[in-house]
Amino acid sequence: MGSNCPRGTRKEPSLQPPRRATPRRYLMCPPAHFEVTYSINPWMDPAKPVDVPLAVAQWEDLRDRYRALGHTVEELTPRRGLPDMVFAANGATVVDGRVLGARFAFREREAEAEAHLDWFRASGFDRVHEPVHINEGEGDFAVTASYVLAGRGFRASPLSHGEAQEFFGRPVIGLDLVDPRYYHLDTALAVLDDATDQVMYHPPAFSPGSREVLRRLFPDALLAGDDDAAALGLNAVSDGLHVLLPQSATGLFDPLRERGYEPIGMDLSELLKGGGSVKCCTQELRV
Ligand code: ARG
Repeated sequence: MGSNCPRGTRKEPSLQPPRRATPRRYLMCPPAHFEVTYSINPWMDPAKPVDVPLAVAQWEDLRDRYRALGHTVEELTPRRGLPDMVFAANGATVVDGRVLGARFAFREREAEAEAHLDWFRASGFDRVHEPVHINEGEGDFAVTASYVLAGRGFRASPLSHGEAQEFFGRPVIGLDLVDPRYYHLDTALAVLDDATDQVMYHPPAFSPGSREVLRRLFPDALLAGDDDAAALGLNAVSDGLHVLLPQSATGLFDPLRERGYEPIGMDLSELLKGGGSVKCCTQELRV
């Protein structure tokens, strides 16, 4: 309470409001057919071999961790010839039970959109919008309490932002991505608490104007440095308390703890070869 809070100590970690996990529903797709045969982002090198059994084991670890935390994980059946399908976050964006389908920027991933739509229709979702404009699901859309943050510059069309705003009826804030390593918004920004608008992000991944927008909207955000961003540390998933993130993003653990979160490091080294980590593998179904 403000009244018994001594002056000048408001930001002391011990005085942070207690964090609370809320149960989530996630959609994931096992990396049974994962491989790197083409390169559509700077992380992908088809010359580097991928260890599929290891990728599957790492992915199962993530899935099992969510379940152990009390979350529901639904599984999408992987399709042969769609090696990036493991990055299930890209297949749709679900807010208030409304499903905005994806439309991929690259031909190699185009067919994933239909696989997701099929799953949503078969799973009883009846408010489904097939998009006109390119958007790669939660790759470029992040949902906070007040906004839908929307990346552009590499994948999502700026026109998809208006389409999302109209469909969800939530304010969409466009953010310009400028570094090809951080080609999707979810490689440069993570929502930590979607009930109170807490985020973490890597400022250099954004244009100067977008950085200013982020500063205005999220003055208390946790800012990630170069090394943690390069470990894809921002490709994280939070349930409001537990933050699952790549284990090599070591610089983020203490700042997260200071803010009352419980960081959980995951090893998704094989999937990093495709340019993705925890968040890319996890689509949240906000029903
Ligand atoms: N290889 C995939 C691509 O470039 C990785 C997608 C990662 N997903 C994400 N949500 N950032 O499209």
